[in-house]
Amino acid sequence: MTDDFDVLRQPLKLGALDLPHRLVMAPLTRNRADEDGTANALMAEYYGQRAGSAALIVSEATWVAQQGKPYPRTPGIANDAHREGWRLTTDAVHEAGGLIVAQLWHGGRVAHPDTTGEDTVCASPTAVEKLTIFTPHEAEAPVPTPRELTTDEIRGLVQTFADAARRAIEAGFDGVEIHGANGYLLHQFLADGVNHREDEYGGSPENRARFVVEVTKAVVAAVGADRTGIRLSPAPAAHEATEFDGGDTYRALAKELAPLGLAYVHVMRQPGDPLLQELRTAFGAPLLLNTGFAKKTEREEAISFVRDGHADASVVGRAFISTPDLLERWAAGQPENEGRPELYYASGPEGYTDYPTMAGETALGTS
Ligand SMILES: Cc1cc2nc3c(=O)[nH]c(=O)nc-3n(C[C@H](O)[C@H](O)[C@H](O)COP(=O)(O)O)c2cc1C
Repeated sequence: MTDDFDVLRQPLKLGALDLPHRLVMAPLTRNRADEDGTANALMAEYYGQRAGSAALIVSEATWVAQQGKPYPRTPGIANDAHREGWRLTTDAVHEAGGLIVAQLWHGGRVAHPDTTGEDTVCASPTAVEKLTIFTPHEAEAPVPTPRELTTDEIRGLVQTFADAARRAIEAGFDGVEIHGANGYLLHQFLADGVNHREDEYGGSPENRARFVVEVTKAVVAAVGADRTGIRLSPAPAAHEATEFDGGDTYRALAKELAPLGLAYVHVMRQPGDPLLQELRTAFGAPLLLNTGFAKKTEREEAISFVRDGHADASVVGRAFISTPDLLERWAAGQPENEGRPELYYASGPEGYTDYPTMAGETALGTS
């Protein structure tokens, strides 16, 4: 095809990571880990199939502590067994010529005691009212009102994130992405509709940003700024993480994080949005753009993010689930495979590793 697709083929440096092109695979929770959160061989196959076609893969959200595990069969990076499990994936990705970073996650109030075996915690004891989630026993369990974290616990969690980052690098990840988006714990601190604290972690934009700043600085100290990115989703309010302050907390966050020289900032936002471009300048780091859940990212849109100067790279989720050779498909102007959303959170290879490439085979030709 002779259109603007080649803008996506330009190489890009993100800190220590040299991307051969600008199509990035979004973090996508798929619930295929072992019960205890250990990543397994099936996951390694799935990621290996998409490596390379995605210049960089952001792993599915990966919990840093059992208390922050939102859903059954999501993976963790909280202990040595997790580290060894992920090694299968990082090896498969590297063998296929790709790069992968681990998305570091804590669910906070988006979690259930039946899944974690622990109470749920948050910046403040504010419940997510309209949310029901999967537990090992139920498909639609309401989440309980969380307990407010103590100041000491917050400091402990900063260390937990840093330990997880170090473990991720030991597992062979090329870097880490701090999950500050979608209404999970870090976002719960940023959002003034959720965070009503009166200590140094709430009450002003600077204070609401403080936990994320401390986590980021600790992660940077553990693995280096050139291997650390962060994902943010300033409004709309995913998981009821409502924000009323017009972006001021993000401005405060950018002011603190810009001097660190992060590898990238990954934002879910519409491309022409003024806050997006303001934050891009304020962070001063390469910008990865994904528009969010409303509508599946299409080929032309991914091209336009880079071509029209909205971002440095385009991050694509659902199209990568259904189409492991997405770069090659889009380059050839060929259609994507039909996705099977009903299998996004199912178990086993169906709807996971069985999507064909253009040649009509599963991507590794192994089945
Ligand atoms: C099945 C599924 C799982 C997702 N899991 C995550 C996740 O683990 N972490 C995250 O930050 N976003 C997650 N998202 C959001 C995606 O990263 C992305 O923002 C969204 O799918 C919109 O991009 P798309 O239109 O290209 O699919 C998920 C989305 C889907 C559809």
